Amino acid sequence: MATTVITNISSLVTNDPSLGAGPLGPVQDAAVVIDGDRVAWVGASSKAPATDNRVDAGGRAVLPGFVDSHSHLVFAGDRTAEFNARMSGQSYSAGGIRTTVAATRAASDEELEANLVRHLREALRQGTTTLETKSGYGLTVEDEARALRIAAAHTDEVTYLGAHIVSPDYADDPAAYVDLVTGPMLDACAPHARWVDVFCEKGAFDGDQARTILTAGAARGLIPRVHANQLSYGPGVQLAVELDAASADHCTHLTEADVDALANGNTVATLLPGAEFSTRAPWPDARRLLDAGATVALSTDCNPGSSYTSSVPFCIALAVRDMGMTPDEAVWSATAGGAAALRRTDIGRIAPGTRADLTLLEAPSHVHLAYRPGVPLVSAVWRSGVREV
Ligand code: NIG
Ligand code: FE
Repeated sequence: MATTVITNISSLVTNDPSLGAGPLGPVQDAAVVIDGDRVAWVGASSKAPATDNRVDAGGRAVLPGFVDSHSHLVFAGDRTAEFNARMSGQSYSAGGIRTTVAATRAASDEELEANLVRHLREALRQGTTTLETKSGYGLTVEDEARALRIAAAHTDEVTYLGAHIVSPDYADDPAAYVDLVTGPMLDACAPHARWVDVFCEKGAFDGDQARTILTAGAARGLIPRVHANQLSYGPGVQLAVELDAASADHCTHLTEADVDALANGNTVATLLPGAEFSTRAPWPDARRLLDAGATVALSTDCNPGSSYTSSVPFCIALAVRDMGMTPDEAVWSATAGGAAALRRTDIGRIAPGTRADLTLLEAPSHVHLAYRPGVPLVSAVWRSGVREV
């Protein structure tokens, strides 16, 4: 298999404290050797071994590819009108999801797949090398299963979100919809997914319903993750920690007890500032979570309703400007933090043996991701050792 060395890296973020001081494990004047789909060597540029191919980074920064651990990309249509209304003063509600459900049900498999691929490519161009995505805009047995089948053809990180909202077809009988989600729909969906998720919120599913759905999914081998405490205070975060969910996502409205639970449990707090941006909601308090000792991930929540951005750099800039994170913390959360939220150790780091997912910036330091917001700084991307951008 071909080997490549990237030399003359001004600053390499490894996220490996054995390679450099602190959580980002930075190495200055570095080189990385890629062998096939793996990182084979990391060290000083002056000591780089000879390889088949050589890439001169020209004094620019390299960091691990972003791990976007939360998106909703199997959908059709868009919600421009809803966004416009919101920016004129209307508030966000889960009800808008129904618009996308109708468009998604009406779309062909080919249309859904083409839309997914377009957004995956868009994310890759912005440095995302691993992307989780969910069902949740089908809400019938057939439409949820097809969403997951389509997603699974393009990513290993697939989440069953039949419990996004109660299907409009069951508006008068939510209990029957929970039976469907935990019965025939789960049967059809479990083979295609790794994770099970519930939107635990007023207007979606309450704590008891969420527990029933997550427990049923776990019994079928799916690992829980939860849309928790996005629009209001509620039971989602504590339920996530109690069920040992991989991640509690949003975490916008947290009590002291919620913060304590996240700090003391195994559940990652995944913050999604694109949603607060696009819904004009208060920012999640990353500083409070970090100071308490919680593990924080940063992701896009890319979806046509609440957060239509595929840009992790944009989320990093928001997190630094408005959520109390330092640039180092935000970059860690968007790489190693995302990997933790997906319970992966092969990605989110650059060290011998990890998957060769690397982003070369058009900048001398990863700090520029927040320092130069809105500027397209991603210059090259390798995924599994293959240069994609
Ligand atoms: O994570 N909160 C629930 N689901 C999405 C929004 C989906 C939509 O509005 O279409 C979210 O924000
Ligand atoms: Fe979401």
